[in-house]
Amino acid sequence: MKCYGLSADEIRKNIEKITVAVYGLGKMGLPLACVFADRGFNVIGVDINKNIVEKINSGENTVKEEEGLDELVRKVVKNKKLKAVLNSVEASKISDIHIIIVPTLLNKNKKPDLNIVKNLMEDISKGLEKGDIVITECTMPPGATESLIPILEKNGLKCGRDFGVAHCPERTSTGTAIRDISGQYPKIVGGVDEKTNEVLEGIYNIINKKGVIKTDIKTAEAIKVFEGIYRDVNIALANELAIYCEESGINAKEAFEKANTQPYCHLHNPGPGVGGHCIPVYPYFIMNKKTELTKISRKINDSMVVHVANLIIKGLNEIRKEFKNSKILILGLSFRSGVKEVRNSPTIPLIKKLKKLKADVFLYDPLFTKKEIEEYAKYKEDFENIDCIVIMTENKKFKNLNWKKSDNIVIVDTKRVLDPEKIKIYYGIGYPRRG
Ligand SMILES: NC(=O)c1ccc[n+]([C@@H]2O[C@H](COP(=O)([O-])OP(=O)(O)OC[C@H]3O[C@@H](n4cnc5c(N)ncnc54)[C@H](O)[C@@H]3O)[C@@H](O)[C@H]2O)c1
Repeated sequence: MKCYGLSADEIRKNIEKITVAVYGLGKMGLPLACVFADRGFNVIGVDINKNIVEKINSGENTVKEEEGLDELVRKVVKNKKLKAVLNSVEASKISDIHIIIVPTLLNKNKKPDLNIVKNLMEDISKGLEKGDIVITECTMPPGATESLIPILEKNGLKCGRDFGVAHCPERTSTGTAIRDISGQYPKIVGGVDEKTNEVLEGIYNIINKKGVIKTDIKTAEAIKVFEGIYRDVNIALANELAIYCEESGINAKEAFEKANTQPYCHLHNPGPGVGGHCIPVYPYFIMNKKTELTKISRKINDSMVVHVANLIIKGLNEIRKEFKNSKILILGLSFRSGVKEVRNSPTIPLIKKLKKLKADVFLYDPLFTKKEIEEYAKYKEDFENIDCIVIMTENKKFKNLNWKKSDNIVIVDTKRVLDPEKIKIYYGIGYPRRG
C-alpha cells in the first residue's frame, strides 16, 4: 500500500498492507528489519552478501552479538514476515517504504564517500512508484540526503509531489539495537515535507514506544552527527585530563567520578583511542577550517596509541627489560567490549607500532578465533614468558584471568579494569606515574 499522503492513523490501521524494504542487513539493518517484521509490516531485506541472505532465509541470525536477535530472526522468517533478497531493483519494485542502512565511509582524504548510498538510490529509482517513501537511516553528512534526491527523480517522478524522502538516523549501538530501535530513545524523523513527516510518525510510532521527534532532513542528519562528535570531543577532553593526572600525581578515575557528582560535569572515560565506524568517522562529515575543536579532538584521540606505547616503554624500563624483542601480550582486538568489530580499533595501530619497534607481539581476544587473531599478531592466552600485558578492551574474561601470576610482568591497563593496589607493576591511563 502506497503511503505518501496517508495520515499516521491510516498507516497504523494498514500495517499488514505495507511493504518495507530494508537495504543493508548488517549490525543495524537486520535488527531494524526484524523489528518492522515483528510489528506486522511485510519486510524485504536486501543485502549484496549472498551468505547473509541465505542464512537469514534459513532463519539464522547473522549478527551474533545482538541479544534476542536469534529468536526474532527465526520467528519473523518462519511467519513469512521477513524475506531476504540480493536484487535491490526487484525489491524496490515491490516495496512502499525504502530504508537505506548501508555503510557510509570516508575516502583516502577523509572526505565522506557516499558511493554505496548513491548506487543503491540508482537501483531504488528503477523500482520507485508514486506514493513511495525513501528513507536514509545510515549516518549522513548534513545536506547529503537532499543532494541525492535528483538520483531518485531520474525516472520522471518528483520528490514532494509523487514521493517523499527523509532521514531518520539510527540512534543505536551494536549489541543493544533491538532495545534502542524499540524505544530506548525517541526516533528523530526528518522528512522533506509535512506529508512525509506524517507518514514517518505513523511508521515509527509503531516500532518505537518513545515516539518521534519531527524535524527537517538536514537537521535530522546534523543531530546524529553531532551526537557522535559530542562523544569524540568529550573523550578527547577525558584523555587530555587523564594524561595531566598521570603527570601530576592525581588518580583520574577518582577525580572524574567525584567531579561528576556535580550535575553540570559529565567527564567521560579516558582510553586508548576511539574505534568503530561511527564516532571516529562522523567528525570528518562536518570538518572544515572553522571546526578547530572537532579537529584537535580527533588528533588527541588518535594520539592515545602513542601514549600507550610510551607507558609500555616506561614499564619495561622499570623492570630493566630492553624494548627490542620484549614479549608483549595485548588483550583486546575489538574496539569495544562485547562487540566483535575491528574497524578503527586502536589495537591495530598499536600492534603496528610495537612491531615496528621490534617487540614480539602476542594477542588475545575471546571474541575472535585463533585464526582471526593470527591475521594481526601471534595468538597467546596465558602469561608465560610475557614481559608486558596491555589491556585494550574491557572484557569480563580479562578481569578473571590469573593476575596472581603477573607479579614480574608490566601491566598497562588502558581501560582501568584492574585494581592498581593488587597489581605489582601497574601503569594505567590516568593513573599517577611512578617515580
Ligand atoms: N553499528 C553501529 O553501532 C551503528 C550505530 C548507529 C548508526 N550506524 C550507521 O548505520 C549504517 C550501517 O552500519 P552497520 O553497522 O549496520 O554496518 P555493517 O557493515 O554491519 O552492515 C552493512 C551491510 O550493508 C550491506 N551492503 C553493502 N552494500 C550494499 C548494497 N549496495 N546493497 C545492500 N546491502 C549492502 C553489507 O553487505 C552489510 O551486510 C552506517 O551508516 C553506520 O554509520 C551504525
